Amino acid sequence: MSTLHVVDHPLIVHKLSIMRNKRTGSKDFRELLNEIAMLMGYELTRDLPLEDVEIETPIKKMTAKRVSGKKLAIVPILRAGLGMVDGLQSLVPVAKVGHIGLYRDPETHLPVEYYCKLPLDIEDRITILVDPMLATGGSAVDALTMLKNKGCKHIRFMCLVAAPEGVAKVQAAHPDVEIYTAALDECLNEHAYIVPGLGDAGDRIFGTM
Ligand code: PRP
Ligand code: URA
Repeated sequence: MSTLHVVDHPLIVHKLSIMRNKRTGSKDFRELLNEIAMLMGYELTRDLPLEDVEIETPIKKMTAKRVSGKKLAIVPILRAGLGMVDGLQSLVPVAKVGHIGLYRDPETHLPVEYYCKLPLDIEDRITILVDPMLATGGSAVDALTMLKNKGCKHIRFMCLVAAPEGVAKVQAAHPDVEIYTAALDECLNEHAYIVPGLGDAGDRIFGTM
């Protein structure tokens, strides 16, 4: 089974608390989400391999290190995943970005696919699937399946708030995918919203409440 990484650095916890507050408006919510995405991205990329490179400083020649291995792709699940892309791209500006469009049917809570556009060479990249909310896990499981159907073999999933139900579902369906979250919340309510959560992430990012 894959590992659940709860990235609970004090700065992340502090910023997430502001996001959870229902009085926090869209502008602050968006800024904080991107800041947290960047901080979490630092943890998620911690094990990237390094290789030697010969360089010359103003003082002398030296053997320095640079990131080697596979290039990265960032894939947000629309809409809310878009709110984490800029933060991650500021860390890895050369990463390519794909998009997967899914929305939850309000009655069944099951994901419905409406869009998929991925980099052509995505199977050669380490792919970071991003979505702030992991609730029932249906959207993440479907998006991961779509990525694997396109040939992706190295995928990490990054969210902001996870419910235990969603974590269990992703781990059961995709045991090879490491999950990174800023918080593991209590449960889901009768509308499949995360409790205590932060409400509807897409609506709070884009002001569509
Ligand atoms: C939200 C969220 C996830 C999904 C999580 O998206 O951004 O994609 O729900 O729920 P699940 O784990 O139960 O599948 P939503 O369907 O509300 O679409 P939106 O981002 O366009 O608002
Ligand atoms: N989607 C959200 O945006 N929030 C939740 O709590 C659950 C699904």
